[in-house]
Amino acid sequence: MEGYHPTAGGPARAEEVPPVAYLKWYIPRLKEMRPHNLSFSGLQYPWDLGTIEDIWKDHRGPGTDDRRMVSEMYGVNVENVHLTHGATQAISIAISATSRGGKVAVEMPSYGPLSQTARILGLETIVVRRKPTESAWIIDREEWASVLSQVDLLMVCPQLNPVGWSYTESDREWLIEACKQHDVRIISDEVYSGADRNWKPFYFEGDNCVSISSLTKVHGLGQIRYGWIIASKEIIANAQNTFHNLAGIMSSPVIRIAEQIKDQLNEPVDLIDHYREENLPLLQSMLNRVGIEWNPPPYGVFGAFRVPGVDTLEMIDTIGKEHGLLAVPGCMFDSGLDDWLRVGWSIDPKSFAEAVDVLETVLRTALDIT
Ligand SMILES: Cc1ncc(COP(=O)(O)O)c(C=O)c1O
Repeated sequence: MEGYHPTAGGPARAEEVPPVAYLKWYIPRLKEMRPHNLSFSGLQYPWDLGTIEDIWKDHRGPGTDDRRMVSEMYGVNVENVHLTHGATQAISIAISATSRGGKVAVEMPSYGPLSQTARILGLETIVVRRKPTESAWIIDREEWASVLSQVDLLMVCPQLNPVGWSYTESDREWLIEACKQHDVRIISDEVYSGADRNWKPFYFEGDNCVSISSLTKVHGLGQIRYGWIIASKEIIANAQNTFHNLAGIMSSPVIRIAEQIKDQLNEPVDLIDHYREENLPLLQSMLNRVGIEWNPPPYGVFGAFRVPGVDTLEMIDTIGKEHGLLAVPGCMFDSGLDDWLRVGWSIDPKSFAEAVDVLETVLRTALDIT
Protein backbone atom coordinates (compact mmCIF):
# COMPACT_ATOMS: atom_id res chain seq x y z
CA MET A 1 0.00 0.00 0.00
CA GLU A 2 1.31 3.46 -0.97
CA GLY A 3 0.12 5.16 2.19
CA TYR A 4 -3.08 5.64 4.15
CA HIS A 5 -4.56 8.52 2.16
CA PRO A 6 -7.23 8.15 -0.56
CA THR A 7 -5.96 7.73 -4.11
CA ALA A 8 -7.16 8.97 -7.50
CA GLY A 9 -6.82 7.29 -10.90
CA GLY A 10 -8.64 5.21 -13.47
CA PRO A 11 -11.57 2.84 -13.14
CA ALA A 12 -10.88 0.20 -10.51
CA ARG A 13 -12.21 -3.31 -9.94
CA ALA A 14 -11.22 -6.42 -7.99
CA GLU A 15 -7.72 -5.99 -6.53
CA GLU A 16 -7.45 -2.47 -7.96
CA VAL A 17 -10.26 -1.21 -5.73
CA PRO A 18 -8.53 1.16 -3.31
CA PRO A 19 -8.96 0.44 0.41
CA VAL A 20 -10.43 2.99 2.79
CA ALA A 21 -7.18 2.70 4.72
CA TYR A 22 -8.46 5.15 7.32
CA LEU A 23 -11.18 2.69 8.39
CA LYS A 24 -8.72 -0.23 8.41
CA TRP A 25 -6.47 1.76 10.75
CA TYR A 26 -9.20 3.35 12.84
CA ILE A 27 -11.71 0.58 13.60
CA PRO A 28 -9.27 -1.73 15.48
CA ARG A 29 -8.01 1.24 17.52
CA LEU A 30 -11.54 2.39 18.31
CA LYS A 31 -12.29 -1.14 19.55
CA GLU A 32 -9.40 -0.86 22.03
CA MET A 33 -11.63 1.67 23.88
CA ARG A 34 -8.72 3.94 24.80
CA PRO A 35 -9.82 6.03 27.80
CA HIS A 36 -9.02 9.40 26.16
CA ASN A 37 -10.80 9.56 22.86
CA LEU A 38 -10.40 12.68 20.72
CA SER A 39 -10.94 10.78 17.48
CA PHE A 40 -14.64 11.35 16.87
CA SER A 41 -15.67 13.32 13.81
CA GLY A 42 -19.31 13.26 14.88
CA LEU A 43 -21.26 14.34 17.95
CA GLN A 44 -21.49 11.79 20.74
CA TYR A 45 -25.13 12.42 21.61
CA PRO A 46 -26.81 10.57 24.50
CA TRP A 47 -29.98 9.58 22.65
CA ASP A 48 -32.62 7.80 24.71
CA LEU A 49 -34.96 6.23 22.20
CA GLY A 50 -37.03 4.20 24.62
CA THR A 51 -38.87 1.25 23.11
CA ILE A 52 -40.20 1.32 19.58
CA GLU A 53 -43.07 -1.06 19.15
CA ASP A 54 -42.93 -3.51 16.22
CA ILE A 55 -39.73 -1.84 15.10
CA TRP A 56 -38.93 -4.61 12.63
CA LYS A 57 -42.35 -4.60 10.92
CA ASP A 58 -42.94 -2.98 7.53
CA HIS A 59 -43.41 0.74 8.14
CA ARG A 60 -45.10 1.38 4.81
CA GLY A 61 -48.81 2.04 4.49
CA PRO A 62 -51.37 4.22 2.73
CA GLY A 63 -50.60 7.93 3.03
CA THR A 64 -47.04 7.45 4.38
CA ASP A 65 -43.99 8.72 2.55
CA ASP A 66 -40.53 7.86 3.95
CA ARG A 67 -39.11 11.04 2.47
CA ARG A 68 -41.33 13.50 4.31
CA MET A 69 -38.99 14.13 7.26
CA VAL A 70 -36.07 15.12 5.01
CA SER A 71 -38.27 17.06 2.59
CA GLU A 72 -39.46 19.15 5.56
CA MET A 73 -35.91 19.61 6.87
CA TYR A 74 -34.90 21.18 3.53
CA GLY A 75 -38.22 22.76 2.54
CA VAL A 76 -38.25 20.82 -0.74
CA ASN A 77 -40.72 18.54 -2.46
CA VAL A 78 -40.54 14.80 -1.69
CA GLU A 79 -39.68 14.28 -5.39
CA ASN A 80 -36.39 16.08 -4.69
CA VAL A 81 -35.40 13.59 -1.95
CA HIS A 82 -34.01 10.07 -2.02
CA LEU A 83 -33.21 8.13 1.17
CA THR A 84 -30.15 5.91 1.53
CA HIS A 85 -28.39 3.90 4.20
CA GLY A 86 -25.98 6.60 5.33
CA ALA A 87 -24.13 9.26 3.36
CA THR A 88 -21.58 6.69 2.25
CA GLN A 89 -24.24 4.86 0.25
CA ALA A 90 -25.59 8.21 -0.97
CA ILE A 91 -22.19 8.88 -2.56
CA SER A 92 -22.32 5.89 -4.92
CA ILE A 93 -26.03 6.29 -5.69
CA ALA A 94 -25.56 10.01 -6.41
CA ILE A 95 -22.56 9.43 -8.71
CA SER A 96 -24.44 6.81 -10.67
CA ALA A 97 -27.49 9.12 -10.94
CA THR A 98 -25.52 12.24 -11.89
CA SER A 99 -22.53 11.21 -14.00
CA ARG A 100 -22.59 11.68 -17.74
CA GLY A 101 -19.60 9.35 -18.19
CA GLY A 102 -16.82 11.95 -18.14
CA LYS A 103 -13.91 12.28 -15.73
CA VAL A 104 -14.61 13.26 -12.13
CA ALA A 105 -12.76 15.91 -10.14
CA VAL A 106 -12.37 14.87 -6.50
CA GLU A 107 -11.54 17.23 -3.68
CA MET A 108 -8.75 16.38 -1.24
CA PRO A 109 -8.06 16.10 1.62
CA SER A 110 -11.02 13.75 1.81
CA TYR A 111 -12.96 10.95 3.41
CA GLY A 112 -11.86 8.04 1.17
CA PRO A 113 -15.25 6.95 -0.19
CA LEU A 114 -16.00 10.49 -1.40
CA SER A 115 -12.93 10.63 -3.64
CA GLN A 116 -12.60 6.91 -4.47
CA THR A 117 -16.11 5.62 -5.22
CA ALA A 118 -16.29 7.06 -8.75
CA ARG A 119 -13.44 4.71 -9.71
CA ILE A 120 -15.40 1.66 -8.56
CA LEU A 121 -18.23 2.88 -10.79
CA GLY A 122 -15.89 2.83 -13.81
CA LEU A 123 -14.93 6.52 -13.92
CA GLU A 124 -11.55 8.24 -13.91
CA THR A 125 -10.81 10.75 -11.17
CA ILE A 126 -8.54 13.80 -10.99
CA VAL A 127 -7.58 15.46 -7.70
CA VAL A 128 -8.21 19.09 -6.81
CA ARG A 129 -6.88 20.35 -3.49
CA ARG A 130 -7.87 22.94 -0.95
CA LYS A 131 -4.84 24.59 0.63
CA PRO A 132 -4.23 25.85 4.15
CA THR A 133 -3.96 29.52 5.08
CA GLU A 134 -3.85 30.89 8.62
CA SER A 135 -7.61 30.49 8.82
CA ALA A 136 -9.76 28.89 6.09
CA TRP A 137 -8.54 26.30 3.59
CA ILE A 138 -8.89 27.84 0.15
CA ILE A 139 -9.25 26.91 -3.50
CA ASP A 140 -6.30 27.34 -5.86
CA ARG A 141 -8.49 28.81 -8.61
CA GLU A 142 -6.00 28.34 -11.44
CA GLU A 143 -5.50 24.65 -10.65
CA TRP A 144 -9.22 24.04 -10.16
CA ALA A 145 -10.21 25.88 -13.37
CA SER A 146 -7.82 23.72 -15.36
CA VAL A 147 -9.24 20.49 -13.88
CA LEU A 148 -12.87 21.65 -14.19
CA SER A 149 -12.32 22.07 -17.93
CA GLN A 150 -11.52 18.32 -18.18
CA VAL A 151 -14.39 16.82 -16.14
CA ASP A 152 -18.19 16.73 -16.02
CA LEU A 153 -18.62 15.99 -12.31
CA LEU A 154 -17.05 17.34 -9.11
CA MET A 155 -17.13 15.69 -5.66
CA VAL A 156 -16.71 18.03 -2.69
CA CYS A 157 -17.11 18.09 1.07
CA PRO A 158 -17.57 21.80 1.90
CA GLN A 159 -16.81 21.36 5.61
CA LEU A 160 -13.51 19.71 4.91
CA ASN A 161 -12.48 16.54 6.74
CA PRO A 162 -10.04 16.61 8.65
CA VAL A 163 -9.79 20.41 9.12
CA GLY A 164 -13.45 21.43 9.51
CA TRP A 165 -13.14 24.61 7.41
CA SER A 166 -15.83 25.41 4.86
CA TYR A 167 -15.33 27.40 1.63
CA THR A 168 -14.86 31.12 1.99
CA GLU A 169 -17.88 32.94 0.60
CA SER A 170 -15.90 34.14 -2.39
CA ASP A 171 -14.47 30.65 -3.15
CA ARG A 172 -17.97 29.22 -3.02
CA GLU A 173 -19.30 31.84 -5.44
CA TRP A 174 -16.33 31.31 -7.74
CA LEU A 175 -16.79 27.53 -7.68
CA ILE A 176 -20.52 27.62 -8.46
CA GLU A 177 -19.86 29.99 -11.37
CA ALA A 178 -16.89 27.99 -12.72
CA CYS A 179 -18.93 24.75 -12.64
CA LYS A 180 -21.80 26.41 -14.51
CA GLN A 181 -19.36 27.73 -17.11
CA HIS A 182 -17.74 24.32 -17.66
CA ASP A 183 -21.07 22.41 -17.44
CA VAL A 184 -19.85 20.48 -14.40
CA ARG A 185 -22.29 18.88 -11.97
CA ILE A 186 -21.46 19.01 -8.26
CA ILE A 187 -22.06 16.35 -5.61
CA SER A 188 -21.63 18.00 -2.24
CA ASP A 189 -21.20 15.81 0.83
CA GLU A 190 -22.69 17.96 3.60
CA VAL A 191 -22.60 15.54 6.53
CA TYR A 192 -20.88 18.15 8.72
CA SER A 193 -22.65 21.26 7.45
CA GLY A 194 -25.77 20.94 9.64
CA ALA A 195 -23.67 22.32 12.51
CA ASP A 196 -23.79 25.70 10.72
CA ARG A 197 -27.28 27.07 11.33
CA ASN A 198 -26.97 29.39 8.31
CA TRP A 199 -25.80 26.68 5.94
CA LYS A 200 -27.24 26.91 2.41
CA PRO A 201 -27.16 23.41 0.85
CA PHE A 202 -25.46 23.32 -2.54
CA TYR A 203 -28.67 21.90 -4.04
CA PHE A 204 -30.13 25.42 -3.90
CA GLU A 205 -27.37 26.72 -6.20
CA GLY A 206 -28.92 25.12 -9.29
CA ASP A 207 -30.07 21.94 -11.03
CA ASN A 208 -26.45 20.88 -11.56
CA CYS A 209 -25.95 20.61 -7.78
CA VAL A 210 -26.69 17.64 -5.53
CA SER A 211 -26.49 17.69 -1.72
CA ILE A 212 -26.04 14.58 0.35
CA SER A 213 -26.08 14.14 4.11
CA SER A 214 -27.08 11.84 6.95
CA LEU A 215 -27.96 11.66 10.64
CA THR A 216 -24.45 10.32 11.41
CA LYS A 217 -22.31 13.31 12.33
CA VAL A 218 -24.31 16.29 13.55
CA HIS A 219 -27.04 14.11 15.08
CA GLY A 220 -24.79 11.36 16.39
CA LEU A 221 -26.85 8.53 14.90
CA GLY A 222 -24.38 6.75 12.60
CA GLN A 223 -25.47 3.39 13.94
CA ILE A 224 -28.85 3.54 12.22
CA ARG A 225 -27.45 4.32 8.73
CA TYR A 226 -29.96 7.01 7.68
CA GLY A 227 -28.82 9.21 4.81
CA TRP A 228 -30.26 11.13 1.88
CA ILE A 229 -29.75 12.80 -1.47
CA ILE A 230 -31.35 16.16 -2.43
CA ALA A 231 -31.39 16.84 -6.17
CA SER A 232 -33.50 17.79 -9.18
CA LYS A 233 -36.48 15.52 -9.91
CA GLU A 234 -34.63 14.07 -12.91
CA ILE A 235 -31.54 13.13 -10.91
CA ILE A 236 -33.68 11.75 -8.06
CA ALA A 237 -35.56 9.56 -10.57
CA ASN A 238 -32.18 8.15 -11.69
CA ALA A 239 -31.16 7.70 -8.06
CA GLN A 240 -34.30 5.70 -7.40
CA ASN A 241 -33.49 3.33 -10.26
CA THR A 242 -29.91 2.91 -9.04
CA PHE A 243 -31.04 2.40 -5.44
CA HIS A 244 -33.57 -0.26 -6.43
CA ASN A 245 -30.83 -2.11 -8.33
CA LEU A 246 -28.05 -1.77 -5.78
CA ALA A 247 -29.85 -1.70 -2.44
CA GLY A 248 -33.53 -2.61 -2.92
CA ILE A 249 -35.53 -0.88 -0.20
CA MET A 250 -34.85 1.09 3.00
CA SER A 251 -34.89 -0.88 6.21
CA SER A 252 -38.06 -0.34 8.26
CA PRO A 253 -36.28 -0.13 11.67
CA VAL A 254 -34.13 2.72 10.31
CA ILE A 255 -37.18 4.69 9.20
CA ARG A 256 -39.03 4.04 12.45
CA ILE A 257 -36.09 5.19 14.60
CA ALA A 258 -35.74 8.39 12.55
CA GLU A 259 -39.49 9.03 12.96
CA GLN A 260 -39.07 8.67 16.72
CA ILE A 261 -36.51 11.50 16.94
CA LYS A 262 -37.75 13.81 14.20
CA ASP A 263 -39.00 16.50 16.61
CA GLN A 264 -35.65 16.59 18.46
CA LEU A 265 -33.35 17.25 15.52
CA ASN A 266 -32.32 20.66 16.93
CA GLU A 267 -31.12 19.32 20.28
CA PRO A 268 -27.80 17.91 19.02
CA VAL A 269 -27.04 21.19 17.22
CA ASP A 270 -27.50 23.04 20.55
CA LEU A 271 -25.19 20.55 22.26
CA ILE A 272 -22.53 21.18 19.60
CA ASP A 273 -22.69 24.90 20.43
CA HIS A 274 -22.32 24.08 24.13
CA TYR A 275 -19.33 21.77 23.56
CA ARG A 276 -17.65 24.42 21.42
CA GLU A 277 -18.04 27.01 24.17
CA GLU A 278 -16.75 24.70 26.91
CA ASN A 279 -14.13 22.62 25.13
CA LEU A 280 -12.53 24.79 22.47
CA PRO A 281 -10.86 27.32 24.80
CA LEU A 282 -9.14 24.46 26.67
CA LEU A 283 -7.75 23.00 23.47
CA GLN A 284 -6.64 26.36 22.18
CA SER A 285 -4.76 27.36 25.34
CA MET A 286 -3.08 23.94 25.58
CA LEU A 287 -1.90 24.27 21.97
CA ASN A 288 -0.58 27.76 22.75
CA ARG A 289 1.38 26.34 25.69
CA VAL A 290 3.16 23.84 23.44
CA GLY A 291 3.79 26.47 20.76
CA ILE A 292 1.24 25.35 18.17
CA GLU A 293 -0.71 28.14 16.52
CA TRP A 294 -4.22 27.21 15.53
CA ASN A 295 -7.49 28.86 14.63
CA PRO A 296 -10.54 26.65 15.14
CA PRO A 297 -13.03 26.44 12.27
CA PRO A 298 -16.21 28.44 12.99
CA TYR A 299 -18.56 25.40 13.01
CA GLY A 300 -18.56 21.73 13.88
CA VAL A 301 -16.85 19.38 16.27
CA PHE A 302 -13.36 18.76 14.92
CA GLY A 303 -10.35 20.52 13.54
CA ALA A 304 -6.76 19.69 12.61
CA PHE A 305 -3.40 21.35 13.23
CA ARG A 306 0.24 20.76 12.37
CA VAL A 307 2.59 19.25 14.90
CA PRO A 308 5.71 20.45 13.11
CA GLY A 309 8.16 17.69 12.22
CA VAL A 310 6.23 14.95 14.03
CA ASP A 311 4.89 11.85 12.27
CA THR A 312 1.47 11.87 13.96
CA LEU A 313 0.66 8.29 12.92
CA GLU A 314 3.72 7.06 14.77
CA MET A 315 2.95 9.41 17.65
CA ILE A 316 -0.58 8.03 18.14
CA ASP A 317 0.53 4.42 17.70
CA THR A 318 3.35 4.71 20.27
CA ILE A 319 3.21 7.54 22.83
CA GLY A 320 -0.54 8.01 22.30
CA LYS A 321 -1.27 4.33 22.88
CA GLU A 322 0.91 4.28 26.00
CA HIS A 323 -1.14 7.13 27.47
CA GLY A 324 -4.50 5.71 26.34
CA LEU A 325 -5.07 8.52 23.80
CA LEU A 326 -6.73 8.24 20.38
CA ALA A 327 -6.82 11.02 17.76
CA VAL A 328 -6.63 10.73 13.98
CA PRO A 329 -3.41 11.33 11.99
CA GLY A 330 -3.67 13.68 9.01
CA CYS A 331 -2.09 11.09 6.69
CA MET A 332 -5.48 9.33 6.55
CA PHE A 333 -6.89 12.16 4.41
CA ASP A 334 -4.19 13.25 1.96
CA SER A 335 -0.53 13.01 1.13
CA GLY A 336 1.48 15.83 2.69
CA LEU A 337 -0.52 15.78 5.97
CA ASP A 338 1.86 13.45 7.83
CA ASP A 339 2.46 15.99 10.60
CA TRP A 340 -1.18 17.03 10.99
CA LEU A 341 -3.48 15.72 13.71
CA ARG A 342 -7.28 15.75 13.76
CA VAL A 343 -8.86 16.33 17.15
CA GLY A 344 -12.58 16.20 17.95
CA TRP A 345 -14.32 18.06 20.79
CA SER A 346 -17.72 16.33 20.70
CA ILE A 347 -17.46 14.72 24.14
CA ASP A 348 -18.55 15.93 27.59
CA PRO A 349 -16.36 18.73 29.00
CA LYS A 350 -14.98 16.63 31.90
CA SER A 351 -13.73 13.81 29.63
CA PHE A 352 -12.50 16.41 27.16
CA ALA A 353 -10.47 18.29 29.80
CA GLU A 354 -8.81 15.04 30.90
CA ALA A 355 -8.06 14.04 27.32
CA VAL A 356 -6.56 17.46 26.54
CA ASP A 357 -4.18 17.07 29.52
CA VAL A 358 -3.10 13.72 28.15
CA LEU A 359 -2.73 15.16 24.64
CA GLU A 360 -0.47 17.87 26.08
CA THR A 361 1.80 15.22 27.61
CA VAL A 362 1.88 13.29 24.33
CA LEU A 363 2.65 16.43 22.28
CA ARG A 364 5.36 17.55 24.71
CA THR A 365 7.02 14.15 24.46
CA ALA A 366 6.74 14.07 20.67
CA LEU A 367 8.04 17.63 20.33
CA ASP A 368 10.65 16.97 23.00
CA ILE A 369 9.61 19.95 25.14
CA THR A 370 10.19 19.78 28.88
C1 LIG B 1 -17.12 13.48 4.50
C2 LIG B 1 -17.80 12.29 5.07
N1 LIG B 1 -18.92 11.82 4.49
C3 LIG B 1 -19.56 10.75 4.98
C4 LIG B 1 -19.10 10.09 6.10
C5 LIG B 1 -19.85 8.91 6.62
O1 LIG B 1 -21.21 9.18 6.72
P1 LIG B 1 -22.29 8.03 6.93
O2 LIG B 1 -22.02 7.41 8.27
O3 LIG B 1 -23.60 8.72 6.87
O4 LIG B 1 -22.12 7.03 5.84
C6 LIG B 1 -17.93 10.53 6.72
C7 LIG B 1 -17.39 9.81 7.90
O5 LIG B 1 -16.30 10.01 8.39
C8 LIG B 1 -17.27 11.66 6.20
O6 LIG B 1 -16.15 12.13 6.77
